Amino acid sequence: MALASCAPGDDRPFNATEEARRAADAAQQTATSETDAIATEAEVDAWTKGAMVAAADPRAVEAGLEMLRQGGSAIDAAIAVHAVLGLVEPQSSGIGGGAFMVYYDRDADEITVFDGREVAPASTTPNHFMKGGKPLGFLEAWQSGKAVGVPGQIALYKTSHEAAGKLDWATLFQPAIKLAEDGFEVSPRLAGLLANPRLRGAVRLDDLPASADYFYPNGEPLPVGFIRTNPDYAATLSAIAESGPSAFYEGEIAQAIVDAVNSDANPGAMNLEDLADYSVKIRPALCGDRADGYRICSAPPPSSGGVTQNMIMGLYDLLEPTEEADMTEENYLKAFIDAQRLAYADRDHYVADSDFVTVPATDLINPAYLRVRAKEAFAPDATTHPGDPGLALGRDPVRPLWGEDATEHGPGTTHISIVDADGNAVSMTATVEAAFGSSIMVKGFMLNNELTDFSRQPAKGTKPVANAPGPKKRPRSSMSPTLVFDPAGDLFMVTGSPGGNSIVAYVSKTLVGVLEWGKSAQEAIDLPNIIARGDTVGVEIDRPGGMEAADALRELGYNVEEREGENSGLHVIIVREDGLEGGADPRREGIAKALE
Ligand code: GLY
Repeated sequence: MALASCAPGDDRPFNATEEARRAADAAQQTATSETDAIATEAEVDAWTKGAMVAAADPRAVEAGLEMLRQGGSAIDAAIAVHAVLGLVEPQSSGIGGGAFMVYYDRDADEITVFDGREVAPASTTPNHFMKGGKPLGFLEAWQSGKAVGVPGQIALYKTSHEAAGKLDWATLFQPAIKLAEDGFEVSPRLAGLLANPRLRGAVRLDDLPASADYFYPNGEPLPVGFIRTNPDYAATLSAIAESGPSAFYEGEIAQAIVDAVNSDANPGAMNLEDLADYSVKIRPALCGDRADGYRICSAPPPSSGGVTQNMIMGLYDLLEPTEEADMTEENYLKAFIDAQRLAYADRDHYVADSDFVTVPATDLINPAYLRVRAKEAFAPDATTHPGDPGLALGRDPVRPLWGEDATEHGPGTTHISIVDADGNAVSMTATVEAAFGSSIMVKGFMLNNELTDFSRQPAKGTKPVANAPGPKKRPRSSMSPTLVFDPAGDLFMVTGSPGGNSIVAYVSKTLVGVLEWGKSAQEAIDLPNIIARGDTVGVEIDRPGGMEAADALRELGYNVEEREGENSGLHVIIVREDGLEGGADPRREGIAKALE
């Protein structure tokens, strides 16, 4: 039956642990025989799987591959890819936004998270989005100078490059500079968004002079195939290439950002000090060990990645059918949905900037808590609510500390997955929040509107909301750049996606698809998206298997919301025995391409 596309593939029996064991055994055998012959440690350790870049646009992927060809690292490639995406995919991310990068250094066997999330200006108060005792309407808040956070992307480029870049800094920007000077061909997706009346009604792109001139010359949206030059972006990148981040965070560009934010019709209050003070946080990855020996590592708070991906996979293990008679496709799907509902409810309540509030991140993924939480799986028609990891682990309750969250996330985001020729990996999700961010264009790039990723309502009754705005605080993110390691401790998978709130569901679909259901990278991406947050289950019905899944879930009693035109942008790389396997989301314009 068609639902089979959503559940464990009976045509491809899969035992992840077994496969990894075989791989480990094979590696061990090779190592042993090589050791017996002549081997040096370097030979045993040599990476033989190749290199690959997966991202949202072929021109960006090519820029990354070019860096790898020149001997660059995964981080060099990621910077070059992203600088091009800021030009050809300005709706999703750019240097006026921020990102989380999860980086695996194979030699050191270390995972580092570079948190380049946007930061609220120092003048921000919890009531930042309140007016007359009520939160500003979403669109009013969303399309404003008030929503612009201090961009973190350029600082992330620099900090990660200092950590593990191999190529000269200026080299990384050359593909983007050339493309901005020569002009790039407007893609169908970009043209479609610019012409979309609903989007035009919601954002100010054709009202604000800089973005209107750039995207709507003569009042008409850029058509598919139009060759668009962006000399301002070329000049901005050239200055950064020459002088480093100070060209962005100080001087003329910084002043232009501050002026644009503060002169907006609904102004922010950013100053030059806010920009000069920006710094990337280097954080340990939040990792969880699965019963089958696989390890899932993603970004810690303020990202939701580490908490939600580990919660969903841990809960899935506890909720999946164990009795032969129950092992139906519907029940596997039910386990995935219930795991999502539980994890989303906890994420919404607890995850925020852990530099400002206590986030029980490790408790939330503790197997002892997950065992308690799994028993709370909601009836399909029940209202979801957060669990209490404090109580469950025999300590003081933590749930009453926070009021009910009211955060809404927008979908302007992109994801890059890279494995380099030494087996190092980057999983980076980058964003400007809404499509085209705040619509404010400065010096050839879009400014984010990331501060609406805070809960606009800062308190519920007398209780503060964990993700309330605050000075120098980072808004919670759904971005889940993720790496998976096999039971032998070797890199197995690089995954991530854009998609606002739904990112959590999209990324977990690839984890459950590959680790539990035996799918290839592309098969897992192609599965219909199913988003189980709150009291409804969104099902993507315009993909094969989607309508069947919607019908089956309705039958089980879920409140199904049929969805079309889903916005995931999954880019996945899997390390297989015989090399790298890539997958790119057909819902966007990206590709996964190996280095030849
Ligand atoms: N702005 C999307 C996110 O950070 O989740």
